[in-house]
Amino acid sequence: MLISSADINRRVKELAVQISAEYGQRPVVLVGVLKGSFIFMADLVRHLTCPVRIEFIGTKSYSGSSSSGEVQLTKDLDKPIQGEDVLLVEDIVDTGLTLNYLQHMLAQRGPLSIRTVAFLDKPSRRRIEVQADYVGFVIEDRFVVGYGLDFDQKYRNLSDLCVLAA
Ligand code: IMP
Repeated sequence: MLISSADINRRVKELAVQISAEYGQRPVVLVGVLKGSFIFMADLVRHLTCPVRIEFIGTKSYSGSSSSGEVQLTKDLDKPIQGEDVLLVEDIVDTGLTLNYLQHMLAQRGPLSIRTVAFLDKPSRRRIEVQADYVGFVIEDRFVVGYGLDFDQKYRNLSDLCVLAA
């Protein structure tokens, strides 16, 4: 185990307090990046005090545990985000390719602002310079599963964050 569910819950609450303080009573469109962010999104949103709308967007860049280097959209937003404060909710920023792609794509739709909250950050793996505004935990270059993150669609349901054994 790398990070226990108790530590995760504590940190997610802290992130929510920080985010709530910054947005105040401004409505925020939370855009969860499927599928890895679904548990983080569900936990985070329950601690936010600003008014929220929930959207999901789907991307794909991985097969197995190695990045293909290509980002594909698998599901688009249901509604426009023009004039809205958008908060992208990511499971992990790894190479940064997904976040970079999404930030640019969503910026073209005329939102008032775009920020990103990432549950995890693996800065040593970056292939493109991009940074989340809020980060839960910075981790080393290990392939992790649990709390929504998978290996070949497995282990998303683990409550703790675990390192995949080689
Ligand atoms: P990117 O390399 O920053 O574009 O990350 C793309 C996606 O790869 C992330 O949103 C995750 O879903 C997945 N990913 C990256 N690192 C890991 C990991 O350690 N475990 C599980 N999924 C990962």
